[in-house]
Amino acid sequence: MIIEPKIRGFICLTAHPVGCAKNVRNQINYVKSKGLIQGPKKVLVIGASTGFGLASRITSAFGANASTIGVFFEKAPQEGKTASPGWYNSAAFQQEAHQARLYAKSINGDAFSDEIKRKTIELIKADLGKIDLVIYSLASPVRNHPVTGVTHRSVLKPIGQTFTNKTVDFHSGIVSDISIDPCSDEDINNTVAVMGGEDWEMWMDALIKADVLAPNAMSVAYSYIGPALTESVYRKGTIGRAKDHLEATAFTITEKLKPVGGKAFVSVNKALVTQASSAIPVIPLYISLLYKEMKKKGVHEGCIEQIQRLFSERLYVNGDIPTDEKGRIRIDDFEMRPDVQQQIAEVWGSVSTENLSEIGDLVGYKKDFLSLFGFGVGEIDYEKNVNENVEIANLV
Ligand code: NAI
Repeated sequence: MIIEPKIRGFICLTAHPVGCAKNVRNQINYVKSKGLIQGPKKVLVIGASTGFGLASRITSAFGANASTIGVFFEKAPQEGKTASPGWYNSAAFQQEAHQARLYAKSINGDAFSDEIKRKTIELIKADLGKIDLVIYSLASPVRNHPVTGVTHRSVLKPIGQTFTNKTVDFHSGIVSDISIDPCSDEDINNTVAVMGGEDWEMWMDALIKADVLAPNAMSVAYSYIGPALTESVYRKGTIGRAKDHLEATAFTITEKLKPVGGKAFVSVNKALVTQASSAIPVIPLYISLLYKEMKKKGVHEGCIEQIQRLFSERLYVNGDIPTDEKGRIRIDDFEMRPDVQQQIAEVWGSVSTENLSEIGDLVGYKKDFLSLFGFGVGEIDYEKNVNENVEIANLV
């Protein structure tokens, strides 16, 4: 079929298999161009099909020759319907890994469930024995709790008072004011249940109990801080409470990893266009301004540049892993540079529909958004019929 983007709000209902495969190859080529990292050998990536998780899997495999098991929740193609982009990304990843003679198997299902944890552990035992790195990179709006059976839905709201600020509809480029009512206590609890650290800890408990962690095994989950501008809706909002919880969980997990000499970390990453972040109000406008400034200063990075740097300059360096005073690894250092943030704060007040294309990088935002779904990727003939019915090899 000929596949075109079908955009509905924050998502695109279609995905292009050839474009997604090209994105994966581009990321692989980037990682290879940076040379071999003395990195992990056997890696489990939870949330491995898109965004930071996919970049973590690619960096492990093609940057350190690691065997990888990827867990994700993606839609397979159906008669006349494309798969979700993470499906096509994973199909391409598996193919490239196979050609490079790297072990790679994938599991598609709900990572919050006991069943997928069990299945993953069985696979580790059967194929890898013990693993030395666990990346936790889930971004989900909903979690069915495996013990209570309750379905928790996360919300993106401020706490305590109504938050009013500018936002952009990145499709139309229209900048407008948005007011978001404060959340309830239940909203906070639900968001922490979905995006906090409980599930990460459950994964690590299960892996420890099954004795599948190698000596000195590490686990890393991803967090975000951001500037004062977005604080009310992000770091001091419901999602921020979940990130506080995730960050605190790193210490709990480190305690539990002591018998194997392991450690758990949170890495604070840069704001980027992903399926998860485009749904957060205000953030797309901030990202448009951020991209402009970081590109101008030559310090812009995408997921793959961020994660390649995380592995080569933070996680796998000789000596101690550098962290901030709260024990967090920081790869948002370029985003948070005072000169970058000062510039954004200065233009924020005057940004409007009329001047956004000039003072912000809306074009870059839209390009990255479409690219998440395999569209607008260079050297691809989108007029051509392609097979949407792509299978993922080694899907367990
Ligand atoms: P993403 O939406 O690109 O990726 C999410 C991944 O989770 C996908 O592989 C998806 O299949 C998987 N997933 C979702 N629900 C699942 C389930 N129930 N079972 C199994 N897999 C499931 O998200 P992104 O942006 O890469 O986020 C990953 C982490 O990075 C999140 O913790 C996010 O908060 C954090 N982060 C994101 C930033 C951004 O600007 N995008 C910045 C800093 C941190």
